[in-house]
Amino acid sequence: MSQSRIAAVDVGNDSVKAIFGELDQEFNIPNIIARDIEDRPVIGIEELDQKDPLEGIHIRVHSPALQENNAIYRVGHLASKSSNSTELDPGSSKSQEDQTLIMLFASIALDAAKGNKQGSNQVIDANYILGTGLPLREVKEGKDAGYRSKLLGSVHQVEFLVTPKYQGIKVNIKFDEVKVYPEGFAAYINLVMDHDLKIINKDLIDKRILIQDIGGLSTDIAVIKNRTVDDDKAQGFNLGVSESLENIREEIFSNHGVELDSRRDVVEIITRNNDRNHIMVKGSRTSVHDITDRILLELAKKQYRLLRNVWQKNSQTEICYFVGGGSNVLKEYLKTLNNNLDGYNIEFFEDEKESIWMMANAYYKLISEFTKKAEKPKEEKKPAKKS
Ligand SMILES: Nc1ncnc2c1ncn2[C@@H]1O[C@H](COP(=O)(O)OP(=O)(O)OP(=O)(O)O)[C@@H](O)[C@H]1O
Ligand SMILES: [Mg+2]
Repeated sequence: MSQSRIAAVDVGNDSVKAIFGELDQEFNIPNIIARDIEDRPVIGIEELDQKDPLEGIHIRVHSPALQENNAIYRVGHLASKSSNSTELDPGSSKSQEDQTLIMLFASIALDAAKGNKQGSNQVIDANYILGTGLPLREVKEGKDAGYRSKLLGSVHQVEFLVTPKYQGIKVNIKFDEVKVYPEGFAAYINLVMDHDLKIINKDLIDKRILIQDIGGLSTDIAVIKNRTVDDDKAQGFNLGVSESLENIREEIFSNHGVELDSRRDVVEIITRNNDRNHIMVKGSRTSVHDITDRILLELAKKQYRLLRNVWQKNSQTEICYFVGGGSNVLKEYLKTLNNNLDGYNIEFFEDEKESIWMMANAYYKLISEFTKKAEKPKEEKKPAKKS
């Protein structure tokens, strides 16, 4: 009987989405890290205990898989407050960056520490079965094999430094199995299959489909034919929604003097059901529709051009699904453009969570099915799950 826990982790350029165990735990952490030269000064103990660990991830990471071993990082929200933070460069390769591993290890260590019932200052040995992904381009280049063996080959230790609730805890992460899936393929699996990998969408499974994933920093268009991803046709573009959100934030500040805390606040304003596209300025309800409309329409047009290009090259496509956080934000604009222009058969997800967690959900389905299959011979007909 295996003690390993399932981890399904989508290291997105904008944020990491991670799902654990029997779906009992999930995290969404901004993909931002900042290198710390020295231990940052300890803040008050009360403050440490009250705060959410996710707000103050401060870790030292030991792992032979890293180019810079034993370095100290602030991760996520905490890193965004520091001046030397780094976000992934859209041109870089996920599989080659320490940042990808730091985010992956940090999310897993948080899961291990959260499930841990004893006090601090101790070492947790945590075994995981990991399902994760890489962009199609990197899988095509064969980078998935090296990435997998780096993860499998050693124990990776995350030491929590000045992190609320977890200060002093060390987590030794060992992977019993690692599966690296191509991102576009994963999205397709999630569309057509349920949690037991049973086909839920018979109509769709043999269609020629496109999946346009509009993320924070990049957009990927996967081409699916004969139930597989067509490697040669898939395309990635360095165009996401983060820059437009940032521009909206800046324009709201310069026109109305109102400083929104983050891009997340901008998303809230442009997607909420009540009072959409309005802010309060000195206590008066004020429209920012002119700003959001102009900037989002501009981005939607660019996204629509990408779709048109790929559709032209794959003329027998039957439907395109829009996924990723960017699709949420641009949904109405893309629909309107499409109605006025080419009238392609396009589809969005009503539930914003579904579109953002698409990839992580797919990895979860794939890795849990793999685990069930692997356990079957040993456990005969007994159910794979222990209650
Ligand atoms: N409900 C939402 N929650 C969080 N972010 C949202 C939401 N709706 C839209 N967004 C925005 O969508 C963008 C991120 O989308 P997503 O999580 O798909 O990107 P990613 O997968 O991390 O990045 P990439 O695909 O470039 O690697 C962010 O800029 C975010 O602000
Ligand atoms: Mg993504």
